[in-house]
Amino acid sequence: MTAHAYALADGNTIPAIGLGTYGLNDQSGVDAIASAIHDGYRLIDTAYNYGNEEVVAEAIRRAEVDRSDLFVTTKLPGRHHGVDETLASFEQSRKRLDLDWVDLYLIHWPNPKRDRYVDSWRSMIKLKERGVVRSIGVSNFTPAMLDRLSAETGLMPVVNQVELHPYFPQAELRAYHAEHAIRTESWSPLAKRTELLAEPVIVEIAERHGSTPAQVVLAWHLALGAVPIPKSADAERRRENLDVFDLELEAGEVEAISGLERGRIWGADPDTHEEM
Ligand SMILES: NC(=O)c1ccc[n+]([C@@H]2O[C@H](COP(=O)([O-])OP(=O)(O)OC[C@H]3O[C@@H](n4cnc5c(N)ncnc54)[C@H](OP(=O)(O)O)[C@@H]3O)[C@@H](O)[C@H]2O)c1
Repeated sequence: MTAHAYALADGNTIPAIGLGTYGLNDQSGVDAIASAIHDGYRLIDTAYNYGNEEVVAEAIRRAEVDRSDLFVTTKLPGRHHGVDETLASFEQSRKRLDLDWVDLYLIHWPNPKRDRYVDSWRSMIKLKERGVVRSIGVSNFTPAMLDRLSAETGLMPVVNQVELHPYFPQAELRAYHAEHAIRTESWSPLAKRTELLAEPVIVEIAERHGSTPAQVVLAWHLALGAVPIPKSADAERRRENLDVFDLELEAGEVEAISGLERGRIWGADPDTHEEM
């Protein structure tokens, strides 16, 4: 690991923090994403279902950064699970993104009742072999689902992007990831629409370090070795969220923040939640 990136199990490298783009649409989305890249964000997290892959494309065209220095992630929607559907859906995403390759392609949700995620995974392996995707992973998968992918295809995902924040630290899942060389990515890393950033434990640690509550939460993700992808529509907050690499929490502080555990923010359990 360099200071701001991790090696993935497939030999590629993932930046240690990314930009979430859910809700960044239209011209204001282009402006936000382009300014984020200008300010140093290199990992951009989008999805077919966010309806903003073209917005990401325009921002990348506008930003004066080498394509090979960027790490673009997109995700396969639930309604496109299946062998052929996955290949076709990827091609639509790639065209909208206006890219020769995507750095990380994820199965967005497992939708176990439909039971087609293994078929999709086989197609993602093909996409990686063709070189149009550099790394393949999943999102919202449980250890049992990950075991099944590995058993049926021989290939484990290198990333699992899951809900992760101090209210839901996912210790067991992270231990499983560590055993299987899977990098954890944290969605809703700031626990959107909760009072997390006003929690006394976090405010107190922020005051001690002369930083902001959001920076403390993001430093907590880094201390866990997870890749947070905070979203902000505000340039000042985006810069704040990226300026966290000098903030080192003590072990006791990390533990105190993890002590805020209380569960998922909107109850999206991958064993039952369906997203098409
Ligand atoms: N794989 C999945 O199933 C899945 C699910 C959910 C999300 N995601 C991904 O994860 C990304 C991040 O998650 P999220 O957007 O749900 O939540 P989040 O990043 O935890 O929180 C975003 C919220 O926090 C605010 N915020 C950001 N920086 C702040 C700061 N420094 N101080 C105070 N408030 C701040 C933002 O407001 P402003 O915009 O006004 O700053 C926004 O309301 C998404 O954009 C998406 O890319 C993936």
